[in-house]
Amino acid sequence: MKTLILYSSHDGQTKKISEFLTALLEGEVIVDELREDYDLEPFERVIIGASIRYGHFNKTLDRFIVRNLVHLAQKKSGFFGVNLTARKAGKDNPETNVYVRKFLQRTKWQPELAAVFAGALLYPRYKWFDRVMIQFIMKITGGETDTTKEIEYTDWEKVKQFAQRINALSK
Ligand SMILES: Cc1cc2nc3c(=O)[nH]c(=O)nc-3n(C[C@H](O)[C@H](O)[C@H](O)COP(=O)(O)O)c2cc1C
Repeated sequence: MKTLILYSSHDGQTKKISEFLTALLEGEVIVDELREDYDLEPFERVIIGASIRYGHFNKTLDRFIVRNLVHLAQKKSGFFGVNLTARKAGKDNPETNVYVRKFLQRTKWQPELAAVFAGALLYPRYKWFDRVMIQFIMKITGGETDTTKEIEYTDWEKVKQFAQRINALSK
């Protein structure tokens, strides 16, 4: 069973989650950055992870799906979204997380598995504009506003459970 994990990550959290998953999956696993022209042929399982910035996944995600839809339909596949809205209970699964719910509604791809993970808040690493914007969003949503802080909200137990579901896909 050969698995490909492709991630679309801006600040590294989706990449980190992908690498964590890699260690837990059975069989050979390749983890790489999402590219539109990725050759899926050698893989039986394809897992795609993508993060949200200002309400959207990276455009490469849609382009990749359009280009690889036929191939994807022949594979066991899974999707996970990463964002800060998912730090809140009730907004942390594929049905209740607005970004993942809408994505799964509009995409022609039908992954067997879907998950949502809370990301990381890394104020000191953001550019000035992003830092101010995120601080504002955090303020109106009752989150952390101290811009000296870096907080990882990712629930690694939940990521482990997703890995188990991926492993079970082949059985
Ligand atoms: C500039 C910027 C914009 C963001 N916009 C959103 C957003 O609209 N909704 C949300 O829930 N999270 C948002 N986030 C949070 C990210 O999804 C979160 O930090 C995630 O961990 C990023 O994953 P990555 O490091 O793999 O890109 C934003 C983060 C940044 C830095």
